[in-house]
Amino acid sequence: MSVAYDFDSVSEAAPNDLEAFWMGFTANRAFKRRPRMVSRAKDMHYYTPEGRPILDGSAGLWCSNAGHNRDPIVQAIQKQAAEMDFAPTFQFGHPLAFKAASRIAELAPGDLDHVFFCNSGSEAGDTALKIALAYNVARGQATRTRLIGRERGYHGVGFGGISVGGISPNRRFFGSLLPGIDHLPHTYDREKQAFSKGEPEWGAERAEALEGLVALHDAQTIAAVIVEPMAGSTGGLPAPKGYLKRLREICDKYGILLIFDEVITGFGRLGTPFAAERYGVVPDMITFAKGVTSGAVPMGGVIVRKHIHDAFMNGPDHVIELFHGYTYSGHPLACAASLATLDVYRNEGLFERAKALEPTFADAVMTLKDKPGVLDIRTVGLVAAIDMAPKADGPGKRGYEAMETAFHDEGLMFRVTGDTIAVSPPLIISDSQVGELVEKIGNTIDAVM
Ligand SMILES: Cc1ncc(COP(=O)(O)O)c(C=O)c1O
Repeated sequence: MSVAYDFDSVSEAAPNDLEAFWMGFTANRAFKRRPRMVSRAKDMHYYTPEGRPILDGSAGLWCSNAGHNRDPIVQAIQKQAAEMDFAPTFQFGHPLAFKAASRIAELAPGDLDHVFFCNSGSEAGDTALKIALAYNVARGQATRTRLIGRERGYHGVGFGGISVGGISPNRRFFGSLLPGIDHLPHTYDREKQAFSKGEPEWGAERAEALEGLVALHDAQTIAAVIVEPMAGSTGGLPAPKGYLKRLREICDKYGILLIFDEVITGFGRLGTPFAAERYGVVPDMITFAKGVTSGAVPMGGVIVRKHIHDAFMNGPDHVIELFHGYTYSGHPLACAASLATLDVYRNEGLFERAKALEPTFADAVMTLKDKPGVLDIRTVGLVAAIDMAPKADGPGKRGYEAMETAFHDEGLMFRVTGDTIAVSPPLIISDSQVGELVEKIGNTIDAVM
């Protein structure tokens, strides 16, 4: 089924076969017939094992906001690996974890000032949902057990995340999921929003559906609402103007916690440290991952407002306050990578750079508007999503062909969701590379239409 692959240029110890690795979220058989393999990276580029450069149009997987293999990050990881490989953060600690938590909390708005570490966006989503439930128990409102997500939302692949998530294929194979879940409607309507730059004018009214869910279930049964400020995995849906503010108002009115999943939007992707700042809304919790280490070492976490954290800090002080945590929470290598990454973001002004580049980036991507078969383009921050018409033989085929064509013929990596091309380059992308990126996407669309 899979092709034999010559790994000799990668490592003599590597097996000469692709069969053993069952790849996640991948068409395994198609990949293994015609692999898209990279073995080295620097700044804006990956390199194939043969040395062919691939322009990174997706920051890996929405991760590498500082670009790849940046010297200060590489050196920090190397130094930490030599100094202390692992230390538990259950009942023991190491200084970098405290330092990283403080630095991350400093970037968050309002009194979001405590950080619970985990290792991925999925763990961050489940952690936030568990904190929401436990917080309501701690404050004497244990009837609040219902969790509300949104159609087309993505919060990772844990049972909590897929339950509140709203992407059908991620849910339908996995049984009955968590009980007591409901969903808000998604915010996309092509007829009213097509070719919007930034936040669409139409759609804030979709937040009113939360009033409907409160009327249906009663506020006293609802613990939290979780949304992405920009729905990434479903194909880049920016929040409509005023939508997130309205959600905040309704949550405040009924004592419901509001969680922003900022796994993609955190660390400058929308031109601010967190999207919460761009939208002038302080959620009760923010989940993060990916950009926190620029993807160099797995790390995730939840930033929590003071009153939520403090609600747990009672009882005898030798007793554990929250029965939750991961062996690798606050891993020394992740903390070292994170501190170095945050320095790169600050020293190079990368969040500001993303903000300054947003209009140029949006204009450049919108030049693809008149290509045949382009149904919609959305942009926000350094994110763009381009919907292509599906092929007659089924949705997703054109998207897959576009990904293959881009990689093999154009030297470009981007994500696809169905027939939507999603672009989210590292924040270090130069003006001329924006032009190159858009040209390569244009060539790809021409080739697959
Ligand atoms: C908004 C959002 N939440 C959660 C996740 C899950 O993160 P991970 O794959 O690190 O578990 C992702 C991943 O893309 C994401 O985009």
